[in-house]
Amino acid sequence: MSDIDVLLQEHRLFPPSPAFRAAARVQDTQLQDAAASDPVEFWAREASELTWSKPWDTVMHWTPPHVTWFAGGELNASVNCVDRHIHGSRRNKAAIIWEGEPGDRRTYTYWDVYREVNLAANMLKKLGVVKGDRVAIYLPMIPEAVFAMLACARIGAVHTVVFGGFSPESLRDRINDCGCKVLITADGGYRRGQIVPLKRHADKAVAECPTIEHMLVVMRRRSGVGDEMAAEMQEGRDHWWHRLKRDVPRECAPEAMSAEDNLFILYTSGTTGKPKGVVHTTGGYMTGVSATSKYVFDLKEEDVYWCTADIGWITGHSYLVYGPLANGATCIVYEGAPDWPEKDRLWEICERYGVTIFYTAPTAIRAFMKWGASYVEKHDLSQLRLLGSVGEPINPEAWMWYHETVGKQHCPIVDTWWQTETGAIMITPLPGVTSTKPGSATTPFPGVRVAVLDSQGDQIGVGGGLLALTHPWPSMLRTIWGDDQRYIDTYFSKWPGRPDLYFAGDGAKRDEDGYLWILGRVDDVLNVAGHRIGTMEVESALVDHPSVAEAAVVGKTHDIKGQAIAAFVTLRNGFTASSSLRDELREHVAMKIGALARPDDILFSADLPKTRSGKIMRRLLRDIAEGRALGDMSTLADATVVDGLRAQYEAQE
Ligand code: WT7
Repeated sequence: MSDIDVLLQEHRLFPPSPAFRAAARVQDTQLQDAAASDPVEFWAREASELTWSKPWDTVMHWTPPHVTWFAGGELNASVNCVDRHIHGSRRNKAAIIWEGEPGDRRTYTYWDVYREVNLAANMLKKLGVVKGDRVAIYLPMIPEAVFAMLACARIGAVHTVVFGGFSPESLRDRINDCGCKVLITADGGYRRGQIVPLKRHADKAVAECPTIEHMLVVMRRRSGVGDEMAAEMQEGRDHWWHRLKRDVPRECAPEAMSAEDNLFILYTSGTTGKPKGVVHTTGGYMTGVSATSKYVFDLKEEDVYWCTADIGWITGHSYLVYGPLANGATCIVYEGAPDWPEKDRLWEICERYGVTIFYTAPTAIRAFMKWGASYVEKHDLSQLRLLGSVGEPINPEAWMWYHETVGKQHCPIVDTWWQTETGAIMITPLPGVTSTKPGSATTPFPGVRVAVLDSQGDQIGVGGGLLALTHPWPSMLRTIWGDDQRYIDTYFSKWPGRPDLYFAGDGAKRDEDGYLWILGRVDDVLNVAGHRIGTMEVESALVDHPSVAEAAVVGKTHDIKGQAIAAFVTLRNGFTASSSLRDELREHVAMKIGALARPDDILFSADLPKTRSGKIMRRLLRDIAEGRALGDMSTLADATVVDGLRAQYEAQE
């Protein structure tokens, strides 16, 4: 039985415990009912909880597929995350509790964060950054990453955070696509005891980035540590963060931003070789992330909240920085790997700081399961009261393990479906209200309207189809940076003549109770360990190698990562398949894109299965990679190719 069949036979129901419900922010369906009848009014009420320097004129204006929210209004995201908490009882509350991988620790109160963000904002100004400029951030998970984002927001600069695991080339392409003026990086970061030499990567990237005027470099190196992180600083271009900090004023007045001004650009993979710059604006995004943080995580003043995502992904933006800080929460930030120095590192951190809310990805949960319950059981997790999951469908087995071993059967699990493009959580339980089913993201968040549609755009009441969002929401992307046509084509053209329907790229099923089950991507996008990778990107990286004539990449089920990458490669004349060439190609992809895109399998083949019109039949390659019966081969040009490939694939394994 496939995973999906298992998922769809899941009938267990877990209502919130009476104790959880009694203390929850939302205890009944009133909020959902009101939002269902008037989503615009619901969002306006949530937006009014933010601090605005000028109220909006119009809540929403929709000319499908474009929308504006809170037009005429002005606010600043850093004021909402920091300034508004420093005058009352939160002034001395821990905002960020940070732990570095080697064991160093720092805690910043809201007042501390206020000071750091003001200084960082002034540093950027000193480097010539003005409102509307783009700033790239390529940092490890250190507090300065949060300060850098909020500093950009404070002066109205648009940040684009690039995950520290991405290669110099990936960094270069992102910087060039949006024309960044400044790059903020560090001498390095720690990962599994090793050093990631970020400044060296940044130097390589910036050599081919004509728009970069300055680099601001955080010194992460710990005293006493040798020179493996030694950064070469280019006079005039590069500046140490800690030095520049001494030369700038302490206070920086926040820029009043229009609600629709860009807050950030975040690149994500699509079905072409080129990542898309997803554009998020200020007012709508802040409304979406602050409302969802509050209701989905049931955030209370005394919570200790931990989202394990890296700030390089949307989850880090929305649920490590903007959402929880807008709510004045105490957030844990951890730099390194979950199994360093031991496989109980995360539980040790949970115990040490009394974490009450823990939000992670199914791939991590499956790894914890494999490592065994003893690592969890060694620690006192009695403070935990709510668990979250995000990034990919969670299989019921992992859900049950999370529920029993981590949550000790009393913590509700919120399985949250959303995307880089949606900015905030879209489908999720409300923990005090919704009875959960293992593997289902349950029902839409208040104010969100979802449909499961067939290819004609007709609603499917019960059954499987394509997931669509049918009404605009404040935190939705506004465009793709520099390519509005791609925005229209990718998200609003699935159903011709219906530019009001947002196509998510996921398949979904609605069951008899109206619960939604996300079935995964229906396009050429892979989800490897919760990270989105386009098959075309990996193919382009492979074809870039001198030995490769043609490549086809597919996803293959993987126990822990959800999906792994399998590549089928045809070599150019004069090159011979060998295991050393296989390793070289795997490294080549890691070098071009980043380690997360390194293929697990590479199979050399003289031919790839193609249709008579020359299109590679990825579906058959997927069947081969999964060891499944081959599907329909009637359009195949040469059936013998497939048999040969299958025999070879099996021989290799
Ligand atoms: C894709 C979006 C949203 C933050 C992390 C990923 C998959 C995400 C779930 C979930 C089933 C999920 C979808 C979606 N996905 N959350 N709870 N259940 N699938 O962001 O990189 O933009 O990827 O992740 O396929 O389309 P992203």
